[in-house]
Amino acid sequence: PPLRPFVDEMPRMPVLRGTDLTLNAATTTHRFHRDLGPSPALGYGGMDYLGPTIEHRVDEPLTLRFGNRIGTHPFAADMDTTVHGVSERYRTSPPCSFHLHGGVTPPDSDGHPERLVFPGQALTHHFPLRQYATNLWYHDHAMGITRANVYAGLAGMMLLRDEFDTGAPGNPLGLPAGEFELPLVLQEKLFTADGHQSLRSTVVVPQGLWEGGGVGDVGLVNGAVWPELEVARGLYRFRVLNAASFSLWNLFFGNRMRFWVIGNDHGLLDQPVPVRNLLLEPAERVDLLVDFSGLAPGETVELRNDEAPVFQAAILGEVAMPLFCRFRAASRRGFTGTVPQRLRGGSGLPAALPPLEQPTVVRNLTVSQPYAVRMPPAIMVLNNLTFDDPEIEMPRQGTVEQWNIINITPDPHPIHIHLVNFRILSRTPLRTIDYQLANPQPPVGVKWTPSAENFLAGPAQPPAAWESGWKDTVRVEGGTVTCLIVRFPTAAELGFDPDATFPAALTGTDMATTHPMSHSAMSHAELQGYVWHCHLLDHEDHEMMLRYRTVR
Ligand code: C2O
Ligand code: CU
Repeated sequence: PPLRPFVDEMPRMPVLRGTDLTLNAATTTHRFHRDLGPSPALGYGGMDYLGPTIEHRVDEPLTLRFGNRIGTHPFAADMDTTVHGVSERYRTSPPCSFHLHGGVTPPDSDGHPERLVFPGQALTHHFPLRQYATNLWYHDHAMGITRANVYAGLAGMMLLRDEFDTGAPGNPLGLPAGEFELPLVLQEKLFTADGHQSLRSTVVVPQGLWEGGGVGDVGLVNGAVWPELEVARGLYRFRVLNAASFSLWNLFFGNRMRFWVIGNDHGLLDQPVPVRNLLLEPAERVDLLVDFSGLAPGETVELRNDEAPVFQAAILGEVAMPLFCRFRAASRRGFTGTVPQRLRGGSGLPAALPPLEQPTVVRNLTVSQPYAVRMPPAIMVLNNLTFDDPEIEMPRQGTVEQWNIINITPDPHPIHIHLVNFRILSRTPLRTIDYQLANPQPPVGVKWTPSAENFLAGPAQPPAAWESGWKDTVRVEGGTVTCLIVRFPTAAELGFDPDATFPAALTGTDMATTHPMSHSAMSHAELQGYVWHCHLLDHEDHEMMLRYRTVR
């Protein structure tokens, strides 16, 4: 029988505070819905799915010891040993890599996909957190099995506070706080007939092979299927994360009511931007104000999605995910404040967002899907390269660059760059066919980043007002050139060397227990720098991820 919506209460994620934390990943079972039995899952920090919300002050260093305590992996059978780095042993001994998404983090603590923590091992991460107050998130980043680990449950939120955004009632910004502020971790899920979470959305691909996209037909908020939250009549602040593996969503309320975006990936906008809907890619965050004071007691409103699914829909028929949760108005009055006029650039407020800096280097990068290596659908690549190819980007520290991301595929991809915050300059439609005819694409492994200058199909569009702040992940539309302004910080600004090398294998002192060596299929003894990648987890696992370094 189909699952009934709104029978479970929306979970509030527990909060974890402290400057010295331990967070283990472990095998669990989790009930996603009242009428479903327990499903095999993974969780962080003793939770049976997802992880606690870490609350922390900016500029206050955080030491976090991450341990892999995974026993049986829920998706042992779905690990694709033909994917980069994945060996047969991963089925019984699945590695992790702990990444703080959006963290301005030294390279050896950044959760490099090849710095693997196997079951029984632990690694201490140092997060300086010299960055903007915002909501970051943490998730697994192990090479080749990120999609399996994150989908199984290895994701959590982090709220970074400062003297303005204190998270306490009476904060200088006048924002809802306490019970009126909560993270919404949005996900999609598929269930098997016996009620277990399923990584596989199609029977077209044999089990154990990469799928091209793990979609879902059921919406999850904070780990619960279609939950309901009782809300007091008043303003709420929702810290929203798209933690899905694959899907872009167009979020709106069922009654089409207006709501306000007050921030995105890296902090507040200058002023709240009223919207009735917004597009959110995997890994993007929005900070929203939603006003429930117009609802009558007992009245409900749903948070919905109507973005049409790509690719799977064609194979499977309709795999659509139209619903996340429902809010039910209580009769009590809640937060009594109103939507602030300004968030930055006034007295008692943080400084206004600076104007976009002038780039001194222009870099072209490509997103393409060159040919079908095997079913389905094709290999997806950045710059026509794979992860091990040596021709990586090496921006100079202290330089402002313009990144022109030329997407010749028909689909949007969320592109994420580690370490940096950037701003969106523009999106411009591309005459994709002409571009490709004039610049034949060589075999994968030969860098291919021709300029799109002569192939633009229209004027450059500025980003929507609500995406105008600091970002770390950007929606790169199909057949479009997306231009970013990226500043690569210096070691002096960061307080650490962003180009330091570090060993790939954990050293003895990092290991909780000794572990058989030559465990992984990785070849590197030493690692350096960061990665940039598509945040569709299936793509990222399947070569749509490249290394990069910032050099002196
Ligand atoms: Cu959300 Cu490379 O990460
Ligand atoms: Cu992609």
